[in-house]
Amino acid sequence: MFDKSISQVTAVIGAQWGDEGKGKLVDILSKEFDIILRATGGANAGHTIYAPNPINPEEIVKFVFHLAPSGIIHEGKIGVLGNGLAIHLPSLIEELDVLKKYNINPTGRLFLSDRAHIVFDYHKKIDAIEEALKGNKKVGTTLRGIGPAYQDKIARRGVRVGELLDFDKFADHVRNTFMQLQILHKDLKHDIEAELDEIRRMLGFIRPFIKDTAIYINDALKAGKTILIEGANGVLLDIDHGTYPFVTSSNPTAGGFHTGTGIGINKIQSLIGIVKAYMTRVGSGPFPTELFDETGDRLRDLGGEFGSTTGRPRRCGWFDAVATKYAVIINGLTSINLTKLDILDTFETIKVCTGYTHKGKKITSIPASTDILEECEPQYIEIEGWNCKTSDARTFDELPQKAKDYIKKLEELIECPINFVGVGVRRDQIIYKAD
Ligand code: GDP
Ligand code: IMO
Ligand code: MG
Repeated sequence: MFDKSISQVTAVIGAQWGDEGKGKLVDILSKEFDIILRATGGANAGHTIYAPNPINPEEIVKFVFHLAPSGIIHEGKIGVLGNGLAIHLPSLIEELDVLKKYNINPTGRLFLSDRAHIVFDYHKKIDAIEEALKGNKKVGTTLRGIGPAYQDKIARRGVRVGELLDFDKFADHVRNTFMQLQILHKDLKHDIEAELDEIRRMLGFIRPFIKDTAIYINDALKAGKTILIEGANGVLLDIDHGTYPFVTSSNPTAGGFHTGTGIGINKIQSLIGIVKAYMTRVGSGPFPTELFDETGDRLRDLGGEFGSTTGRPRRCGWFDAVATKYAVIINGLTSINLTKLDILDTFETIKVCTGYTHKGKKITSIPASTDILEECEPQYIEIEGWNCKTSDARTFDELPQKAKDYIKKLEELIECPINFVGVGVRRDQIIYKAD
């Protein structure tokens, strides 16, 4: 059905500051794919899905996935956590426990890369210590220990999932890494033996999931299987391309999908960017189109803009075509899913940022310096709102003309076709426009 937007390996990428609605499209596309694969990040992600309760299909249930690939709720589909992930094992187990309630059993169809890194509870404590040290320059992390776990990976003292197969050696490695961290962080207080005991108790459950997932996936590709990569976080949170230092500690961009999975870069041919019809951001950092007035509050209330992982209110603002076009360019996005169009249904006028000025000078691309970006003035065009309900539309033609004009304008500004349009939280509330 989605032939014009998908290929054997298709990736879904958050093209703003996260929470664009990746989970919903991954859930919708999952039926077209054999394997659903996470490539980067960890439990900093929160992907929301509204789907029928497998036990009572009449009832629509809200699922929020942090680590498990969202496609795991589809019976028979394989879920993989690739080598690029930072995995907190108790969080994963807790998430799988929730699924049990719905008779969803991932045994035999969920695999963890032996090369993925483990997030320990001490990483979460270090996350909090580092945030406190930064004072008013704090990143506003999710406090899930993601940054400190990736720091250990880069410093070559990180502990990987495959090491769990020999627990004694694993425990020695963990103790040595922890000893190094205690020297680096004199305020770090943690009972490492208690954490090791907790992990020992999980071994029987976790070990059968461990695999060389890069080989597994490439064999599957050779056998003609299809793969959907579930991006996490967002392009503007990328450690290289995001609003550094107010970013996450990995590459949630297309390049990260290659390094984080072992799939050849030439094989990822469809890259679907998820783009909200306005902008949101959680945590600190520049946000040129942020609204501090009642319009911002209205977007937050109507859009239910509260973090899926931390519950924090999301900062809200108008669509930023400069920032979103940057995401299109650096990922080579092949199409877009515009989400939450329905949230704009009641706005008289809608603004779209088409450029910035800095000290009177025109800027057409997002600058590297966050100080400059903080000082940028957004330049807006105003678009007349459509002032009617879009949530029942199922084809592009059923949308009001002014909503179609808004979508066309965004396509023109970001230079990428918008093939999917979201008009509500449910699976059926999507318009496939590429036909
Ligand atoms: P993700 O992290 O990118 O998967 O996004 P989140 O789940 O954190 O946040 C997106 C929110 O928007 C979720 O509550 C979704 O249910 C909701 N959502 C996704 N698409 C649409 C849409 O088209 N319309 C509306 N109203 N809500 C949507
Ligand atoms: P999903 O996949 C929104 C943000 C945090 C913080 C910064 C660094 O649900 O879109 P981290 O804990 O990663 O060190 O935090 O990145 N952040 C996200 N914001 N959605 C996410 O994921 C995010 N993952 C990280 O709020 O500003
Ligand atoms: Mg989210």
